[in-house]
Amino acid sequence: MGSSQSTINSFNLSNKVVIITGSTDGIGKSLARIISSYNPKRLILPVRNRTKGELLLEYIKESDDGNVECIELWDMDLADFT
Ligand SMILES: NC(=O)c1ccc[n+]([C@@H]2O[C@H](COP(=O)([O-])OP(=O)(O)OC[C@H]3O[C@@H](n4cnc5c(N)ncnc54)[C@H](OP(=O)(O)O)[C@@H]3O)[C@@H](O)[C@H]2O)c1
Repeated sequence: MGSSQSTINSFNLSNKVVIITGSTDGIGKSLARIISSYNPKRLILPVRNRTKGELLLEYIKESDDGNVECIELWDMDLADFT
């Protein structure tokens, strides 16, 4: 691999604000855990179900690499345009 190519281990998210929708289940749940481990400046997770949001934080907290310090849960139903 050439020196100009970056790898996942070289990601620097320390000055990035990341928003992940659909993070309370499935692909989004795993992605939220993985991205949190890169310590982004802010990781915003819009959730429509607060209980599932809290369970997500527990899941990330109990994982080996996750970091909940950067996470903000936003109460938001993305199907609701108001
Ligand atoms: N799984 C696959 O292999 C696969 C492959 C290709 C593409 N995809 C696509 O990738 C996406 C995610 O798939 P998935 O398997 O991870 O789905 P999933 O397990 O059903 O998760 C869907 C996520 O979206 C959230 N969500 C749905 N409607 C919402 C709304 N109105 N407001 C806020 N959040 C909402 C759900 O929240 P709640 O927890 O509150 O329900 C949940 O967190 C889908 O669009 C799917 O079609 C999946």
